[in-house]
Amino acid sequence: MKKLFALLAVASLAQAAAAAEVVGNAKDAADKKIAMCIGCHAIPGYKASYPEVFQVPKIGGQSAKYLEAALKAYQKGERKNPSMRGIAGSLTDQDIADLAAYYSQQK
Ligand code: HEC
Repeated sequence: MKKLFALLAVASLAQAAAAAEVVGNAKDAADKKIAMCIGCHAIPGYKASYPEVFQVPKIGGQSAKYLEAALKAYQKGERKNPSMRGIAGSLTDQDIADLAAYYSQQK
């Protein structure tokens, strides 16, 4: 019974977090969202996975504000890279906030 109670408490906490305004959560991003970035931006914090094919900028350790602005610029088409445009277009504001929080904490 105690266990069930603890589970319920955790579940409602998670829901409360989801309902809150868009604040980046590095932990959420680490779990699910970075999976689609790693292929190109490599292991978080590393510079480039395929330097011989194209230059992939290092995103780990940059400021969250910068990363967020960059992703939104791809989303709006202000930045024109086709791969990043496609990726950013599939992200929600929450995704972007989480990813920015996550990568800004990388070294
Ligand atoms: C298909 C390969 C690919 C994938 C997947 C990818 N990126 Fe990128 N990303 C790039 C390339 C190439 C650039 C440089 C584009 C340019 O010159 O504008 C870039 C640029 C960026 C920039 C701008 C960096 C800067 O310094 O200006 C950010 C931020 C970024 N990516 C975040 C992400 C995130 C977050 C994900 C996962 C949701 C992701 N990318 C997935 C290839 C990729």
